[in-house]
Amino acid sequence: MVFKLGVIGGGVMAEAIISRLLKEKIYSSSSIIVSDPQISRRQFWHDQYSVTTTEDNQHILDNCEILLLAIKPQIFENVVSSLNLNLHEKPLVLSILAGVSLEKLAHHFPEYPIVRVMPNTPAIVGEAMTAISPNEKVTSLQLDLTLSLFHSIGSVIQIQESLMDAVTGLSGSGPAFVALMIEALADGGVASGLPRSIALELATQTVLGTAQLVKHKNLHPAILKDQVTSPGGTTIAGVAQLEKNGFRHAVISAVTTAYKRSQELGSK
Ligand SMILES: NC(=O)c1ccc[n+]([C@@H]2O[C@H](COP(=O)([O-])OP(=O)(O)OC[C@H]3O[C@@H](n4cnc5c(N)ncnc54)[C@H](OP(=O)(O)O)[C@@H]3O)[C@@H](O)[C@H]2O)c1
Repeated sequence: MVFKLGVIGGGVMAEAIISRLLKEKIYSSSSIIVSDPQISRRQFWHDQYSVTTTEDNQHILDNCEILLLAIKPQIFENVVSSLNLNLHEKPLVLSILAGVSLEKLAHHFPEYPIVRVMPNTPAIVGEAMTAISPNEKVTSLQLDLTLSLFHSIGSVIQIQESLMDAVTGLSGSGPAFVALMIEALADGGVASGLPRSIALELATQTVLGTAQLVKHKNLHPAILKDQVTSPGGTTIAGVAQLEKNGFRHAVISAVTTAYKRSQELGSK
């Protein structure tokens, strides 16, 4: 095989993963090939990451050890229907497509070892949360390889595939929900008289620090909340406002709606 990793769909998520794999020296630029229909995007990949680019998806499939599918789920069937999949040496297929099941993937890639993967964009800074589910064709060596690849961009867990749409709703879509929270915290600071840059720095570090406290001290969020709410104090006054405005319900609904959307995308 000419390339260790072939990527179909050189968009946001592919870049988040590849940029980290290159930074961590898991792969060199010369061992990666990326396809994208836009010449400007291919030029970007070449200029920014020095990887080989093509618009020919078959060329990728024919020449890689691992195939990363990173196109939008809506165009999956169109893209695979144009490929000749009858290869003697079948690459390991890693699919990050939201909602596209192992069954559907295996229907299009018969007899291929396939891992359904759900990463998230903090991959860019090595803080991804990735969940993986392999099919029965995946060898233990290929599973270890997949785990170590995604370990290099953050945390990784193996889960039952039936949980994958829920994972998509939480950690796949979650960075957008947390970004809204950071933006809203900063807006609250600005509304209270803080300069924008200071408000954003405070908001970002508060979310980051709180997440690290919960993670590293293995602290239940409810205990952390109780620890910082003194009787008649400022924090409980703020918490009461969040509750009044349905904050927790809004976040829960965001995750469950994203979960349902992932199911819908998979059933199309
Ligand atoms: N973004 C996230 O946070 C996230 C998280 C987890 C999983 N995912 C999954 O990752 C996948 C990609 O998402 P994304 O956000 O990276 O989307 P994206 O930025 O739109 O990337 C998809 C890329 O594929 C290209 N493409 C379109 N048709 C193609 C074809 N026939 N052959 C090769 N490439 C083609 C697109 O080019 P054009 O723009 O010219 O169409 C685009 O550059 C999705 O399946 C999504 O469910 C995303």
